[in-house]
Amino acid sequence: MRSAQVLGIAQIGEPVLRERAREVTREELADEEFQAFVDDLIATMRHANGAGLAAIQVFRPIRVCALEVQDNPRYPYKPNIPLTVLVNPVLTPISSERFDNYEGCLSVPDLRGVVSRHAEIRVQAWDRHGQELDFIARGITAGTYQHECDHLDGKLFVDRVEDPSSFTTWKGFTRYKEAEFKARVQRVVERWGS
Ligand code: NI
Repeated sequence: MRSAQVLGIAQIGEPVLRERAREVTREELADEEFQAFVDDLIATMRHANGAGLAAIQVFRPIRVCALEVQDNPRYPYKPNIPLTVLVNPVLTPISSERFDNYEGCLSVPDLRGVVSRHAEIRVQAWDRHGQELDFIARGITAGTYQHECDHLDGKLFVDRVEDPSSFTTWKGFTRYKEAEFKARVQRVVERWGS
């Protein structure tokens, strides 16, 4: 068996990050090369301790992203998410409630900022083999889904930051913002269960 490769991650300024990724066809899913790419995407996400990674971030502008949170050291407060691969995902907010999320991104080195996200969303997609997925995501986990799916439309979290004074390095986040944000996350988790 071929072992998965760790791919290079595009950094902000790379034009590919601003493209709209194209839909994937069912035929492509059956392709060995496509499945090997998905393995590489997952390996790259894990290697970088990402909570998620979109194909476009590894220079392949197709509508595929992977998510996984397993006691993530980059985001110690994030509820766990089992490994999930979404193909052609569509997100629909199912309530008007929102919450503020302190986000970071593997394509935006050493920067975090506050983004307002929908608190409850419906996720419809295929898995990597074309099985229909249809589920509800809530709270912090819903925020992670919205962040990854933004990538597929060429959007980065920095575009959505309403208060630029919330921008901080990771060191600054730990030093000045983390305690307050953790308390806020706790309230979101209590309210939304994830
Ligand atoms: Ni990102």
